[in-house]
Amino acid sequence: MNAITRLATAVSLACALPLSAVAADNGTVEVLHWWTSGGEAAAVQTLKQQIEKDGFTWKDNAVAGGGGAAAMTVLKSRAVAGNPPAAAQIKGPDIQEWGALGLLTELDEVASANHWDQLLPAKLTPIWKYDGHYVAVPVNIHRVNWLWINPQVFEKAGAKVPETLDELFAAADKLKAAGFQPLAHGGQPWQDSTVFESLVLSVLGPQGYHKAFVELDEQTLTGAKMIETFQALQRLAGYMDPNRAGRDWNIAAAEVITGKAGMQIMGDWAKSEWTAAHKVAGSDYQCVPFPGTQGSFTYNIDSLAMFKLSNANDIKAQNDLAKVALEKPFQTAFNQNKGSLPVRQDMDMSQFDACTQRSAKDFAEASKGDGLQPSMAHNMASSLAVQGAIFDVVSNFLNDPKADPAKAAKQLSAAIKASR
Ligand code: BGC
Repeated sequence: MNAITRLATAVSLACALPLSAVAADNGTVEVLHWWTSGGEAAAVQTLKQQIEKDGFTWKDNAVAGGGGAAAMTVLKSRAVAGNPPAAAQIKGPDIQEWGALGLLTELDEVASANHWDQLLPAKLTPIWKYDGHYVAVPVNIHRVNWLWINPQVFEKAGAKVPETLDELFAAADKLKAAGFQPLAHGGQPWQDSTVFESLVLSVLGPQGYHKAFVELDEQTLTGAKMIETFQALQRLAGYMDPNRAGRDWNIAAAEVITGKAGMQIMGDWAKSEWTAAHKVAGSDYQCVPFPGTQGSFTYNIDSLAMFKLSNANDIKAQNDLAKVALEKPFQTAFNQNKGSLPVRQDMDMSQFDACTQRSAKDFAEASKGDGLQPSMAHNMASSLAVQGAIFDVVSNFLNDPKADPAKAAKQLSAAIKASR
């Protein structure tokens, strides 16, 4: 039984329509998300304030845990109990799975009144539509293939900002010799796979990345380049703190911000921590494309999928959320805090910092060819079952310094096959 059938069976056992929460007269919107770090919480606050300004009640359902695995578990149990929230952060192909369960509501009225088809990147709109109807609203575009650098630490160590993998290892050696932790990293599966996917992009290029994570092509998954990627991952692990198990991504980001570590391989939500610490992009810190991935852009788009509700006032609040999410003031304030790009394509980018401006430029460039690729580690490329299989192989490999890269590539392909 695949993931969707399993969930469908469970949901059909529960009641068909969600019980709406006890609503205030003017309507309540409950939002399930996992934005709990300092920077993320500041971003959520901008949405809450707008909803409250519009006269509705915001019910916050924040489930801690970077990458969202814990939030997805909570969402599934709420759905099985027949009581999903009004809105939940759901991404990529997973939106289709929830759509197929018949639990999501159509947002066509709000979408056409507010011209979503014209405002959103045309190549990507199918992500938020189920059966031709919008069922989710995107809020941003995160780029995953970034490297975050503390320039003061680099200077002290005499390290050069890396543009290739060889230069990355050379910089890491310098940082290590100068007594710094070269690479800040938290040992959690989604973080391990965030590093892995950027390495795959670097070693295999965007087409190879697509073959591996979107087409799940066996030859690519087991080929020489994939083995080379695992070798590079093993080498990178040598520059990470051996006591990293379970460390949250924002704690790792803080190690770079405070000058304990020199670099972090992370998507641009990491920037939200620098912003929250009042650091300035381009001077206090640097963002560069992950070495060897210049010209490519792995996207991770946060979106709020909307569940069917029965209370008329709550539906009004839900529609307000959908509308507000793509309005310019929210797109500006939220993304300035979140570290991401506005998903709305007609924004004045001069209001954003150097990293986000670079991201916008690279997104436009990458969109012209094969460079624009969905993030595997952030639920944009495959089902959660396939992603889980990849996470297991990558983290087991990373946690065993003696693991064999050729064996890992074979395991990767076998695990993906078994999960489909
Ligand atoms: C989400 C981001 C979030 C990050 C860390 C990613 O999967 O898309 O919005 O900031 O996880 O929790």
